Amino acid sequence: MYLTKALGIVVLLGSTALAAIEKRGTACTVTPLSASPKPRVVRRDEGSSGGDLERRSPVGDRYLPGPNGSPEHYPRPEPGSKEALAYAHRPEAPSDVALTDMIAQKQQQDKRDTSAAEAALAAAADDTPQILEAFRQCGKEGSIVFEEGTYNIRQVMNTTDLRNCEIDIYGTFVWSADNLDYWIRRTFPVTYAGRSTAWLLGGTNVTVRGHGRALFNGNGQVWIDRNRSGSNMNGRPISLTVWRGTNVAIDGITWRQSQFWHTFVAHSRNVTMTNLDMNTTSSNSNSAVNTDGFDSWNSRDIFIKNWVVTCGDDCISIKGNSTNVHVQNVTCYESGCACVGSIGSNAGQPDYVDDIVFEDISCHHSSNAAWIKTYPGAGHVRNVTFRNVACDNVNQPIYVTPCTYSGSGCDGSRLAIEDVGWYNVTGTSRYNVAAGMHCSAAAPCRNFRFEGVDIRPLAGGGQAKVLCSNIQNQATMGLACTGACPGNWPQQLSGNR
Ligand SMILES: *[C@@H]1O[C@H](CO)[C@@H](O)[C@H](O)[C@H]1NC(C)=O
Ligand SMILES: *[C@@H]1O[C@H](CO)[C@@H](O)[C@H](O)[C@H]1NC(C)=O
Ligand SMILES: *[C@@H]1O[C@H](CO)[C@@H](O)[C@H](O)[C@H]1NC(C)=O
Ligand SMILES: *[C@@H]1O[C@H](CO)[C@@H](O)[C@H](O)[C@H]1NC(C)=O
Ligand SMILES: *[C@@H]1O[C@H](CO)[C@@H](O)[C@H](O)[C@H]1NC(C)=O
Ligand SMILES: *[C@@H]1O[C@H](CO)[C@@H](O)[C@H](O)[C@H]1NC(C)=O
Ligand SMILES: *[C@@H]1O[C@H](CO)[C@@H](O)[C@H](O)[C@H]1NC(C)=O
Ligand SMILES: *[C@@H]1O[C@H](CO)[C@@H](O)[C@H](O)[C@H]1NC(C)=O
Ligand SMILES: *[C@@H]1O[C@H](CO)[C@@H](O)[C@H](O)[C@H]1NC(C)=O
Repeated sequence: MYLTKALGIVVLLGSTALAAIEKRGTACTVTPLSASPKPRVVRRDEGSSGGDLERRSPVGDRYLPGPNGSPEHYPRPEPGSKEALAYAHRPEAPSDVALTDMIAQKQQQDKRDTSAAEAALAAAADDTPQILEAFRQCGKEGSIVFEEGTYNIRQVMNTTDLRNCEIDIYGTFVWSADNLDYWIRRTFPVTYAGRSTAWLLGGTNVTVRGHGRALFNGNGQVWIDRNRSGSNMNGRPISLTVWRGTNVAIDGITWRQSQFWHTFVAHSRNVTMTNLDMNTTSSNSNSAVNTDGFDSWNSRDIFIKNWVVTCGDDCISIKGNSTNVHVQNVTCYESGCACVGSIGSNAGQPDYVDDIVFEDISCHHSSNAAWIKTYPGAGHVRNVTFRNVACDNVNQPIYVTPCTYSGSGCDGSRLAIEDVGWYNVTGTSRYNVAAGMHCSAAAPCRNFRFEGVDIRPLAGGGQAKVLCSNIQNQATMGLACTGACPGNWPQQLSGNR
């Protein structure tokens, strides 16, 4: 590794590799280590002084062919392993032929061996250092362009000190899956429930645009398989965490196979996340739990719009101390869809959720649709609106519980749930229950409002049941209860009730 210094534009050229940060003033353009060589011009500017840039090992001048000739194959094999070498299509040993042929073959062999070694090295090629370097060089009053190609991310990233920075991503970011023990040890704690993340992004006035071309591949299947049937595995990383961000906008990014939650927003304010596409689906019998699309915590003024999410867990989930979150036009598949909670897990520490709007939400083949889950803790959920929620084969569309997961201590919870409206919640439930709502006897739900709730069982048979307990304004809330709802009523049903 060596450092190149230049004035103004700095272009790093190797004889075969062009892994580089090109810098003009505070605008950085990054090319992945795996990028194909292409002619680049070295130009020098007067005036501004460029920073130090590191040139990484000159190995990444081509995509690694997969064993079947596909351009990429994940997870990457361990460098130097049998599998890594197989990637380079090691040729057969030369056969017993004429001397000149042997020499020719030997030369060919040497060439191939070199490419085998290079390919093995490239299997370990890590774009993290140059990505972090670009943030260091251009993350303040600057801009960063990640050009197309595949960026291998093998290390955690902390980019929380950005200021007035515009980031454009045209490439694919792939988080490595052959070093899970590294991730488990090194992911950054995000405090909330002992969770942790692969990438902390924060600062003030930060824009991240993917232009519909950025693809984040977390190699999630490996994590799903690693924690099979388990939940909340320690160290399993949230893909992207907006941490201490103010005025942050994220747009046009596609996620596939996220490691854990796709996004988390914590200790942040004024965060806009638009046109995001997420899909984490298990390809085997291990289920994709903990792959939430979005969770918020200790944050305010969050705007979410135009998302499509397929995940095995909550699609959009508003957690403790979230204020003024507006979620609009989100389509969720195989998920918990629109959710407040869980909150209140620590009775000694109150959790407050205020001023939340979910509107124009579609929930397909999901566990729930418009729901609230709390522990029997402290704090409140206040002023939540669910408007225009279309349900398509949802297990139990409307669900309210003060004792999530345990089903115990339900009537002792003092966490108030009040001023919640469900307007125009329509479509089909999987069974004959539209709503199961049990509020705490110690803190009955107050001021619930329902208008235009029309949920019918998939199998037909008219309106689905509405089960209610301890709703203070039950008689005037706009929806007729058909029966009581026990404290330990399950979040998901397994048949008609
Ligand atoms: C992330 O970087 C900031 C400085 O930029 C530092 O203050 C903070 O401690 C780092 N966080 C972690 C978890 O390393
Ligand atoms: C962030 O942007 C706003 C609006 O453009 C500006 O007033 C503010 O000074 C910026 N903040 C910083 C830290 O530069
Ligand atoms: C999944 O993670 C949980 C929480 O860390 C742990 O208790 C469980 O043993 C893990 N399951 C497997 C199969 O590793
Ligand atoms: C919120 O952030 C956006 C950029 O994402 C910015 O345009 C807007 O001015 C910010 N709002 C406030 C009140 O600072
Ligand atoms: C999500 O991915 C799975 C597996 O590739 C696919 O079957 C499913 O159709 C995708 N969902 C959407 C909404 O595209
Ligand atoms: C809703 O979001 C989807 C997916 O991002 C988008 O295609 C559609 O145009 C959006 N609808 C509106 C009315 O903005
Ligand atoms: C939520 O905010 C309240 C009041 O500001 C604070 O006391 C509490 O510790 C916060 N809860 C969490 C989990 O951070
Ligand atoms: C309820 O929340 C909405 C959305 O944030 C907000 O516009 C409204 O003012 C809030 N109502 C009250 C009474 O605080
Ligand atoms: C009710 O919600 C459905 C589905 O979200 C939507 O298509 C319809 O326009 C809404 N109706 C009104 C009156 O807003």
